[in-house]
Amino acid sequence: MYRRYFLAALAAAALVPAMPATAQETVKVGLIIPLTGPFTTTGKQLEAAAKLYMQQHGTTVAGKKIELIVRDDAGRPENTARIASELVNNDKVAFLAGFGLTPLAMATAPIATNSKVPMVVMMAGTSIITERSPYIVRTSFTLGQSAIVIADWAAQNKIKNVVTLVTDYAPGHDAEKSFVERFEKAGGKVTEKLRVPLANPDFAPFLQRVRDAKPDALYVFTPSGVGAILMKQFVERGLDKSGIRLIGPGDITDDDVLNGFGDAAIGVVTAHNYSTAHPSAKNKEYVAAYKKANPSMRPNFASVGGYDGMHVIYEALKGTKGSTDGDALMKVIKTLKWESPRGPIWIDPETRDIVQTIYIRKVEKKDGELYNIEFASFPGIKDPVKEAMKKK
Ligand code: DHB
Repeated sequence: MYRRYFLAALAAAALVPAMPATAQETVKVGLIIPLTGPFTTTGKQLEAAAKLYMQQHGTTVAGKKIELIVRDDAGRPENTARIASELVNNDKVAFLAGFGLTPLAMATAPIATNSKVPMVVMMAGTSIITERSPYIVRTSFTLGQSAIVIADWAAQNKIKNVVTLVTDYAPGHDAEKSFVERFEKAGGKVTEKLRVPLANPDFAPFLQRVRDAKPDALYVFTPSGVGAILMKQFVERGLDKSGIRLIGPGDITDDDVLNGFGDAAIGVVTAHNYSTAHPSAKNKEYVAAYKKANPSMRPNFASVGGYDGMHVIYEALKGTKGSTDGDALMKVIKTLKWESPRGPIWIDPETRDIVQTIYIRKVEKKDGELYNIEFASFPGIKDPVKEAMKKK
């Protein structure tokens, strides 16, 4: 009987697959992005860039296997918060990442705080986001960074009267406030401040008012993708031929949709953190690899937020030697400084916000395509809203 038992046990043991001597632990990264709805282009850019980073840098970091879990929030904050909770509680992710719009990041901040899971904001641009949790780091930009640079440029380039037109939510308010303050300080005048709704924007009545007001320039902020509708209506109303210059942060001349604007976009001057045409070796390599992996796409400013966000995650894990303790990861994150396809960038250890070069660019046609061609650069720009608070 014992012999029979022994033989059965032996046979059963043979069926159990041998465990490798050192089973590799998995570190999960939850990437929550809009892959349906009006902000799909942002989600697609973030996903393509995050995957490219992993393809180029491998999926093992500090001995751990990195697993990317991609989830669609359709751009709705209630979805983002629910998905983030599921990822933290069920999947035990070590990082939350993505956040294509400000409200999506704001809705998730308390979850990062309660779970001590680092949250990498790869796109949303409202200043206050990073103050909502000590576990937030941002790899995108703030609207103020570009707004102050284009305000200075406008004041120095014979633009005296400006009408502002922004999407009516937090980053639009930041874009408006930073521009108005800076431009008026430099002696310019903002004659009207217009705000359009985020959902289903119809710019036509606003553009008619701008046409009647005849300012030297129209300063516009719309979130990535939405600029296409504005450009179409700008041209339909003949504003491109009216002598009113179109200026703004570079969201309006988003590289992802710029080619669709046609030649009416030529000459538009914006300030921003990234252009597909940025002439560094690192960016040329990035653009070529991105296009090879995604033949129908051109990397835009969302993409570098995603790419550099993955860099933050990889470097944080290297720094902790694979530990996923949230406080240890944040400590490393505050020391990071590197060369992005957009240029040199770093994380401000005091605010966990990104510091970067802002470029002034003009839309030009090259080899049959429209590009934002950079012609001036301002290195080491911090979020001006937080800088002003510090002085108070
Ligand atoms: C935000 C979204 C965008 O698409 C953009 O271009 C800038 C800011 C935001 O919601 O923060």
